[in-house]
Amino acid sequence: MEENKKRMLSGIQPSGDLHLGNYLGAIKNWAERVDDYECYYFMADMHTITVRQVPADLRKRSLNQLAQYIACGLDPEKNTLFLQSHVPAHAQLGWVLDCYTMFGELSRMTQFKDKSAKHKDNINAGLFTYPALMAADILLYQADYVPVGEDQKQHIELTRDIAQRFNSIYGDVFKIPEPLIAKTGARIYGLTTPNDKMSKSIPEGCVFIMDDPDTINRKFKKAVTDSDTENPVRFAPEEKPGVANLMNIYSTVTGKSFEEIEAEFAGKGYGAFKPAVAEAVIESLRPIREEAERLIKDKAYLEDVYRKGAERASYIANKTLRKVYKKVGFYQI
Ligand code: TRP
Repeated sequence: MEENKKRMLSGIQPSGDLHLGNYLGAIKNWAERVDDYECYYFMADMHTITVRQVPADLRKRSLNQLAQYIACGLDPEKNTLFLQSHVPAHAQLGWVLDCYTMFGELSRMTQFKDKSAKHKDNINAGLFTYPALMAADILLYQADYVPVGEDQKQHIELTRDIAQRFNSIYGDVFKIPEPLIAKTGARIYGLTTPNDKMSKSIPEGCVFIMDDPDTINRKFKKAVTDSDTENPVRFAPEEKPGVANLMNIYSTVTGKSFEEIEAEFAGKGYGAFKPAVAEAVIESLRPIREEAERLIKDKAYLEDVYRKGAERASYIANKTLRKVYKKVGFYQI
């Protein structure tokens, strides 16, 4: 990998299967940037246990997610793909950064507030300090850019604050990362909840990349639209969020502009539009699903990928960690 390229890093928690929102809104864009950046993408398995998991499921989902990353176009020869828990430096720097992150800052994180409201019986310390671990994930690699959804912006801002605080005490240790927030166009909403982003917690409105064609058809059939019969297929996100979401999905998978889509469905209703969107999605996901199914069976290959990924990631991460340990005053071996 070339030294002069800017670094890009992101992660997704293996807390469920990857869906169309992850693919169209994130991974597809990551894959397209591979030649311009030095890229690191990981399964954030350590973050996942802030909420109780079934161990066997987590293990399986972590490996499946790796297979799905690759099937979505992340070439492991060109991107460093790894499991967070395979690189101990994340936990090690995470602890140090815990000591440079304020209780008040963590208390203001909206994701913490939301998740602790949702899991009242398990408001654990890890859930609270999660953003310091996330800061470690990013700062270890001296990442320039972190592509994330809008919901993670606050965590990236905190990461920058922690990095600046640390640097102001010890000199230039960390690169200050920039968030890359997906444009609205890349944002995919739930099919049944077109005002909220697509989420695995509402499975009936969520198209998983491993869904079979019948399931995808059924989900699009139930997609929320509106009662407009006059001029139904037109792009008006405020007034017609469900239709705008379907148009956005259709446009992203086919490459057609909104004008072209409006022309294609002029005088036609949702009875024609929805199956067309479903069909386009099925065709774009088919090769991904088939490739992921093939890779999931090839355990030896996946093992080779995550081992090499962990090795490459550790090399960079340990360099930063050594510097940090020295700066804070840990005695060197
Ligand atoms: N917190 C992110 C999420 O829930 C996942 C994540 C963990 C992450 N560490 C990261 C994303 C570092 C970007 C960079 O979506």
